[in-house]
Amino acid sequence: MESSNLSIFFFCCIFLISSGLIVEAQDSPHHHHRREKEETDDNGFRPAKLFVFGDSYADTGNVRKSLANSWKEPYGTTFPGKPAGRFSDGRVLTDYIAKFLGLKSPVAYRWMKLFGGKKLRNGVNFAYGGSGVFDTLANVLPNMTTQIDFLEKLINESVYTTLDLHSSVVLLSLAGNDYGAYLATGGTIQGLPSFIPLVINQLSINLKRLQKMGATKVIVTALEPLGCLPRFTGLSSYQQCNATRNLATNFHNLLLQQTVAKLNNDTNSSTFFILDLYNSFNTVLEQKGNPQGDLKFETPLKPCCMGISSEYFCGSVDEKGVKMYTVCSDPKSAFFWDSSHPTEAGWHAVYTTLKSSLGQLFQFS
Ligand SMILES: *[C@@H]1O[C@H](CO)[C@@H](O)[C@H](O)[C@H]1NC(C)=O
Ligand SMILES: *[C@@H]1O[C@H](CO)[C@@H](O)[C@H](O)[C@H]1NC(C)=O
Ligand SMILES: *[C@@H]1O[C@H](CO)[C@@H](O)[C@H](O)[C@H]1NC(C)=O
Ligand SMILES: *[C@@H]1O[C@H](CO)[C@@H](O)[C@H](O)[C@H]1NC(C)=O
Ligand SMILES: *[C@@H]1O[C@H](CO)[C@@H](O)[C@H](O)[C@H]1NC(C)=O
Repeated sequence: MESSNLSIFFFCCIFLISSGLIVEAQDSPHHHHRREKEETDDNGFRPAKLFVFGDSYADTGNVRKSLANSWKEPYGTTFPGKPAGRFSDGRVLTDYIAKFLGLKSPVAYRWMKLFGGKKLRNGVNFAYGGSGVFDTLANVLPNMTTQIDFLEKLINESVYTTLDLHSSVVLLSLAGNDYGAYLATGGTIQGLPSFIPLVINQLSINLKRLQKMGATKVIVTALEPLGCLPRFTGLSSYQQCNATRNLATNFHNLLLQQTVAKLNNDTNSSTFFILDLYNSFNTVLEQKGNPQGDLKFETPLKPCCMGISSEYFCGSVDEKGVKMYTVCSDPKSAFFWDSSHPTEAGWHAVYTTLKSSLGQLFQFS
């Protein structure tokens, strides 16, 4: 029941493997150095670390294996080559943001504890797939407040200092699990206009708290076009996005924009920056690829991996271990990996549309 609930309502993920950690730390040092030169030399601000909060768009292995499909085949087949807790066939948003900053993808909090505090140089990823600003699965998935508590605890223990935060970038991903949980527990679409402001208000509390803790650069994601996720486009055979859901998305993003503008103004700073996943997803979906043209998605709304019928999901197996899902032959040609998450190629395409605005962010420091 948990498992299908998660799959239906949350962008989920999880795991328990030891290999996942190592992969991140070894992610090609040469490549990394070249990147650093190429992409961060002009920046006015050179981030020392990346701290990440949020959900499955950012999680690189925090959720427990028993809770989600991200630790099952065929997740992780492109990178790191086996399931390791990312909700994709490969790299996710965090990995691309880290790359942009010239950092290695920060270690997942879960593994940091396991390794007794090593590998902290690049920061820590506290994101848990399926979580929201409010409780989605209480006592199982830490909400964003609790995730920030984890960092505060590390600061209290002098693992990090306020100064570290001062010279770092914070990434917050909020992809809609609060709305999934709201609708799954009796909330209605009609009720969303009064629930959305509560989510934004809680997000705003979290943003202010991070700034108080010392953060000077906080990237927060706008909601992706929810109505375009495969879970909501299956009825149209993946032909068109659901306009009703995109309308709710637009309202969330409008309030987010106003809130962030006010926070920046009130603190006379440019601490907070919106990463516009709404427009970047839409651009890639409409153009069936990225503007540079090197990534192409012929049927962009159709996921690469899906259950053979509605009771199954990407990664589902029956009691005998028989696969109850299908995978496309080339994940590089699909934008969506499963019912809610982009493929690595999808994230790469989204990232290429966001690069120039990220560049601006760091020039205005
Ligand atoms: C977050 O989780 C904690 C611990 O379960 C809970 O006490 C708190 O009320 C939650 N915060 C929000 C904003 O839901
Ligand atoms: C960190 O320390 C402060 C001050 O002692 C305390 O109020 C706060 O609860 C601590 N936070 C955590 C998460 O332990
Ligand atoms: C779009 O989503 C709304 C809200 O869930 C639903 O009522 C409607 O039937 C959906 N429309 C289509 C065409 O799937
Ligand atoms: C911007 O901040 C100033 C104080 O720094 C305040 O007086 C003003 O009302 C704010 N403007 C808006 C639009 O919030
Ligand atoms: C806000 O920042 C600007 C530019 O740094 C400065 O000129 C101005 O005095 C500041 N205003 C307030 C109210 O701190």
